[in-house]
Amino acid sequence: MDINISTAKLNLEKNGFLDVDVDPTIDLFAEIERLKKEKNAILLAHYYQEPDIQDVADYIGDSLGLAQQAAKTDADIIVFAGVHFMAETAKILNPHKKVLLPDLKAGCSLADSAPAPLFKKFKEQHPDHIVVSYINCSAEIKALSDIICTSGNAEKIIESIPEDQPIIFAPDKNLGAYLNKKTGRNMLLWNGACMVHEIFSLEKITRLKMRHPKAKLIAHPECEDPILREAEFVGSTTQLLKFAVKDDAQEYIVATETGILHQMQKDAPHKTFIPAPPNNACACNDCPHMKLNTLEKLYLCMEHELPEITMNEQLRVAALKPIERMLEISRAAGLIG
Ligand code: 13P
Ligand code: SF4
Repeated sequence: MDINISTAKLNLEKNGFLDVDVDPTIDLFAEIERLKKEKNAILLAHYYQEPDIQDVADYIGDSLGLAQQAAKTDADIIVFAGVHFMAETAKILNPHKKVLLPDLKAGCSLADSAPAPLFKKFKEQHPDHIVVSYINCSAEIKALSDIICTSGNAEKIIESIPEDQPIIFAPDKNLGAYLNKKTGRNMLLWNGACMVHEIFSLEKITRLKMRHPKAKLIAHPECEDPILREAEFVGSTTQLLKFAVKDDAQEYIVATETGILHQMQKDAPHKTFIPAPPNNACACNDCPHMKLNTLEKLYLCMEHELPEITMNEQLRVAALKPIERMLEISRAAGLIG
């Protein structure tokens, strides 16, 4: 075996990915296509991945679409171009398949905001509550939950629960507050948030709107309330994309991670999409976790089938139940096929 690869494998845990130089003359798109066929692998990518990765994926979607694809694929290998909790969800649904993630360190600030031991104590203090968790959480949190939801189905999931049933919603306080408003519930919210969606500046957005008076603000529900109140449409990444394509405006200010703009621009090439400005010195808003995946890391992980997601079986079985519940409710509500 190539000495570089042996060393990279030894350092995999430390680095999170296979740290080997890739020959710059290789056509990575062609190589990834070849590996997909040879290995009967499916490549699933989230909208927040870099454009090159989106372009080579078999399926691009939001967390709900990706979970559904992972649940129904008959591929032998699932390559997940997204973050850890997404690949972990695919593994929970597919214990006998190999699930690969180009960089194991592609985490999620929202998932990290709910450490399982603390959340377990919180849950024990409210024994009459059931737990609905946003899919952006660890397998341990999923195992402590009754139903999982995504931004694409959260309202329907909450509405499926009897009105007099107290609910804990974790880990995203912004999505939870938005859902409380939409459904009239009073869910108890865990104090977590996404670093990408919390940073948008209402002041800068207002100034931007003055320069683009016809632009519509569209936002992901992980954003804070003042942004959501100003938004003309709120939805998951897939819902934002569908809205932007169908709607009759020509300009949009998009308050979510900038990766989604690639598909928006592809699906509606004559429209203008402006990333909502964050409250820092930058002009756009990238998720540093999502953007850890690169085309090179993706190629290496498919070639060498590493890094791979592994999981304790007892934890997997416990985490599977609330995900299956989510898929059942989503099917019954006609949100997935
Ligand atoms: P959706 O994929 O449900 O739109 O959520 C966005 C997100 O933050 C994923 O990490
Ligand atoms: Fe997590 Fe936010 Fe990045 Fe999504 S955008 S992966 S919620 S940190």
